[in-house]
Amino acid sequence: MEIDGARNTQIWRVSASVGEDSESLKEALPILQAAEVLKRGGLVAFPTETVYGLGANGLDAKAVADIFVAKGRPADNPLILHIASMGAIHQIVREMPPLAISLARAFWPGPLTLVLPKATIVPSKTTGGLDTVAVRMPAHPVALALIDAAGVPVAAPSANKSGRPSPTEAAHVVKDLLGRVEVILDGGPTGVGVESTVVDCTGRRPVILRPGGVSKEALEEIVGIVEIDPHVLASREIPSGPVRSPGMKYKHYAPKAPAVLVKGDPPELFEKLTRLAAEMQIKGEKVGLMVSRELMEYWEKQTIDPSQWYITCMGSRVHPQEIAANIYRCLRELDEQDITKIIMEGVPRAGLGLAIMNRLEKAAAHCILET
Ligand code: TXA
Ligand code: MG
Repeated sequence: MEIDGARNTQIWRVSASVGEDSESLKEALPILQAAEVLKRGGLVAFPTETVYGLGANGLDAKAVADIFVAKGRPADNPLILHIASMGAIHQIVREMPPLAISLARAFWPGPLTLVLPKATIVPSKTTGGLDTVAVRMPAHPVALALIDAAGVPVAAPSANKSGRPSPTEAAHVVKDLLGRVEVILDGGPTGVGVESTVVDCTGRRPVILRPGGVSKEALEEIVGIVEIDPHVLASREIPSGPVRSPGMKYKHYAPKAPAVLVKGDPPELFEKLTRLAAEMQIKGEKVGLMVSRELMEYWEKQTIDPSQWYITCMGSRVHPQEIAANIYRCLRELDEQDITKIIMEGVPRAGLGLAIMNRLEKAAAHCILET
């Protein structure tokens, strides 16, 4: 008997790193075979510079429908179409406003997704019934070589099961999607670690619908003032009314154990976090902490012994790109422990910090403390 969604998954290793030329990969057998799978309507998980994507031919409504089944994703949450060259955009959008041209020129290939008026060739299954389509050119040689060899725009959400953290390593994809996709291309860990910035380019001013790998500050250097959709900042609540990006409506990933996010600046932040962990532990909780390297150094200097807590280190507070690269791995790691309470350290919101805090706030649901 065929079980719905049961597929024989092949895992193929492709060694390449972000920044490498995709030309040399174009003849690589795993890429060519994976491209054939896409052309036949199958599903291929592949690395991008942000997180792994779960790809299908974005112009094939049946193949796109299979993505939603494999992920367990609500049908009205639209997908991003991934392209490998500037020329490919004209087939899928009705119009490319000047501000979108400037942003694409400045940041593609890269972690920026542009929401544009959709062309009729794009199935409404791909766009969740919307009249707009999200497009991005990823900066990963494996992704670019695969899309190029497939010869079609590749629809790809993050390659996690709905409700799980986005995958930043092939092992995360295997954990969530084994038996649900034909191919997983293993290109090693992704670089950026948080998803692309989604920018609505259909109005007079660009609006950030999801903060991500390209910062607001970097966008503003190119196109002047960029707005942030109010739902992004009010991420404690799941909006009940209409939203500009359907992804905002859904309960995002939350760790198995309830999480508290502590915001503020050192040293008060470190004192508060340490006190909280000690209080929880006294109450019999098994405490898991997701913290910066600076906090660990603070403990060392204060001769605080943290060995009774489970600790995962996100990286340095002064290098937000390090923290972005690690947060999803840290959240998955905490889920694998028998933890009953999670404490997460907040970081400054500047630059990549906006995307990091957006993901941490969602993971902490309603529980955010300020020092
Ligand atoms: O970095 C990324 O963006 C990764 C990699 C694989 O490219 N992809 C990714 O896809 O994060 P996904 O499906 O997990 O998130 C796409 C987000 C969702 O929040 C969705 O609601 C929003 O983009 N989106 C897609 N199409 C849209 C549209 N036409 N209008 C508004 N929002 C849209
Ligand atoms: Mg996702």
